[in-house]
Amino acid sequence: MKHQAITSLEETTILTYILTIFKGESVDEKGSLFTALSAESGEYIKKVVSSFDGTLGKVEKVTLPAQEEKIVLLLGLGEREKYTARKYNVAIRALIKGMRSLHITSAVIDSALPLPIEVERHEGMRSFAINAEMANYEFVKYKETPQEGWFFVEELSYLVDASQKEKILNEIEQGAIIGVYTSHARDLSNTPGGDMTPSILAEEAKKLAQDSGATCDIIGEEEMAKLGMGGILGVSKGSVEDARLIVLEYHGADEKEKPLVFLGKGITFDSGGLDLKISGSMLEMHMDMTGAGSVISAVCAIAKLGLKVNIVGVCPAVENMPSGQSYRPGDLLKSMSGKTIEVLTPDAEGRIVLADALTYTEKRYDPALVVDLATLTGACVVALGTTASAVLTPDDAFAQEICAIGERAGDYMWPLPLWEEYESEVKGTFGDVINAGSQKRSAGTINAGMFLYQFAKSFKKWAHIDIASTMTTSDGQFLSKGASGTGVRFLVELARSRAL
Ligand code: BES
Ligand code: ZN
Ligand code: MN
Repeated sequence: MKHQAITSLEETTILTYILTIFKGESVDEKGSLFTALSAESGEYIKKVVSSFDGTLGKVEKVTLPAQEEKIVLLLGLGEREKYTARKYNVAIRALIKGMRSLHITSAVIDSALPLPIEVERHEGMRSFAINAEMANYEFVKYKETPQEGWFFVEELSYLVDASQKEKILNEIEQGAIIGVYTSHARDLSNTPGGDMTPSILAEEAKKLAQDSGATCDIIGEEEMAKLGMGGILGVSKGSVEDARLIVLEYHGADEKEKPLVFLGKGITFDSGGLDLKISGSMLEMHMDMTGAGSVISAVCAIAKLGLKVNIVGVCPAVENMPSGQSYRPGDLLKSMSGKTIEVLTPDAEGRIVLADALTYTEKRYDPALVVDLATLTGACVVALGTTASAVLTPDDAFAQEICAIGERAGDYMWPLPLWEEYESEVKGTFGDVINAGSQKRSAGTINAGMFLYQFAKSFKKWAHIDIASTMTTSDGQFLSKGASGTGVRFLVELARSRAL
């Protein structure tokens, strides 16, 4: 989608104007778009608005009898007192979704539209572009193009004050980059497992890195064996697809600056292995590489934005399959750290591959902080539904900071405890650590976090984010069905918070 900044309506040929309306209120008569239309259509617009239901996300198309070539789109912002950043995000998406179903491909919006009090103008403009891009996304690659074509929004023009043009355009362009890379993450996740194997994911990572300015190194199974990555290789044994370790780097700051390291679970398909999942719960498991997809996309977005910060992305990409060569319940895998992993179930594979990724990070880098993103547990979905991801870290202040950054970014998160008391749950009987809690059905998300923590103790700051809950979009978000691209906006915002 093209995003433009204009200082007067004469600069554009677009004839669709967006007017925002709070529930129960009238149109803002001082707004520049209303002013531009008021001479001929002011009274008519006011009349239409008086019967418009300004509920959050309502979109109505109005044609003007006196100016037939022009269209006004009314967008409901809901109640003024309840207008928050979350609602603002929803309103923008609803607008784009509304435009798409009305087959309107371009529109003008006043950059002085009302923002929630906690949102500064520059942030608000960035969010506008991010959410517009997100709502304009749909996974149609595998579908025949309908005769009338796909309806995507092609252009948004933001009416700005001349003195603010550069600044606002810059924010909008940044937002568009973040939005587009979120769409890349969704493409990676939505692609079926057979078409997004570990080696294909690695190739896609290379391509994305190449045109963003990040570097991408791929480590194959031979080198993994030399490095002693018994965890990744163990999980990979049952698959005919070879595993890959995808390592991205972006140097935006001085070499002396310690990097932020992002880890992403890249299970390209999770059948459950010999603990085969029942069919219903296997259906969406091509998205079990969402952590990797989001990390790859975020590192590339940060590079594209040119943020002054050093970033590393480490993503183990593996397929978890049942076969005569699969790793078995009861197997004892020697991880890169030297610790043995007692396999209670081959369906708790994500934590095993991440264990080696954590150790690789520890041996190769000296990170300022480490954050891993993983669709790790079904229990996370049970606990949080589809609205928030779970944050697990022994550092309470870091947990709070992560939740605040997530809130700002639009990737909502909530902490779960990672207290010492839970540590006994992951002690092995025959090996050092077990890959599932000793009591199978309790505290699944915490036990998974506690397992990872056993491999993260040397890091100054580390957090695990379970994104199983937010892997797919849900009703009410005004996003198309399938992968949500969860975590991309969060990681970019985290990088921004640490950038010089
Ligand atoms: N990838 C799944 C978790 C998952 C479930 C992600 C639903 C997204 C949606 C993970 O590998 C898994 O199978 N976890 C098991 C762990 C258990 C066997 C300890 C689970 O949650 O059932
Ligand atoms: Zn999995
Ligand atoms: Mn699994």
